[in-house]
Order: sequence, then structure tokens, then C-alpha cells
Amino acid sequence: MELTPQTNEGVKVEPKNRRSFLLALFGLSGAGVSALLAVPLVRFVTYPLRRRAAANTWSEVGPVQDFVAITAPVAKTIMLERRDAWQTTSSQTAVYVLPSRAGQFRILSPICPHLGCSVRWVDDQNKFICPCHAGLFTADGERIAGPPPRSMDSLEAKVEDGVLKVRYQYFRQLVSSKETMA
Ligand code: FES
Repeated sequence: MELTPQTNEGVKVEPKNRRSFLLALFGLSGAGVSALLAVPLVRFVTYPLRRRAAANTWSEVGPVQDFVAITAPVAKTIMLERRDAWQTTSSQTAVYVLPSRAGQFRILSPICPHLGCSVRWVDDQNKFICPCHAGLFTADGERIAGPPPRSMDSLEAKVEDGVLKVRYQYFRQLVSSKETMA
């Protein structure tokens, strides 16, 4: 004969119901532990994506002293580091450093906003000229003539520990406003 346990309050608790309750409790706590254990795994798996988002995209242009006294645009080669998921690739590109204005350094992308050719600084004409379709820009990169739909694109610049740095970005071509590309 099976005995039916009783609580102190005298309420009967059926063994089957108690077993179900305990199973449910273990199930819930198991799910909670699994979720907690999964957090480091999720963080590990998504690390490259989060790292990419937080990656420092600034490139060194050179010692700031090299640019303090320039009177015309100067072309400089910079190193670009790009992180895609687990892969890091490096490449080189060029930028133009303009003479500083009110103590602020200005840097231009050499990529023509028309069809992406490399715009050249032509010293004896005091202009930027695009060799592909004769786009013309002032020494500040303002559009003068030709098919480019806007002026040359400026890039973010900053000075850190005596080094001029640039945040290189790509911009959409054939549009009149400056739009950053991913
Ligand atoms: S690509 Fe520069 S003017 Fe066309």
C-alpha cells in the first residue's frame, strides 16, 4: 500500500506532481545555465565582428612637423589596414595634405568623385586636375569645371603624439553630395 505524504499544513502533495515540479525546476535552471555558458561562446564567435566595429581606422600620415610649413598640397602614401571577420589585410593608398588653415590640417581623398580616377596636383597650374575627363579643382579641392558632380572629398584628420593621422574612407561617385560607402 502506497503512503501519501502530507505537508505540515496538512495539504496532500501527490508524488507524481512533485516529480513533475522538480523536473520542471531542473529544466529551467538547466536552460539558465546553458544560456550563461553560451554568453562567452557567443562573444567568442562574434568577436571579429565586434572588433571590426571598434577597430581603429586611423592611419598615420607622418610627423606633423613635415606639414607645418607647406604652402601647396602634398601627396602622401598611407597604410590602410582592413579587418574582415578573421582576416586582416593591408594596402597602400595616397592622400593629399593641404596647408593648414587656422591651425587645422586638411586632408583630401585623391579619388575623383566622377568615376574614381586619381586626381593629380599640378603645381604650375595651382590646381588639381583629373586626367580622365579633365575635372578641375582649386588648391582647396573645390570643383571648378568638368564632369565631377562635387568637390574633392575631405577626410577626417587629427594630430596625436606629434603625428598627423587620417581616417580614410571611400565615398560614392556620381552623386552631388558626399556619401560614405561601407
Ligand atoms: S573620373 Fe575624374 S573627371 Fe571623370
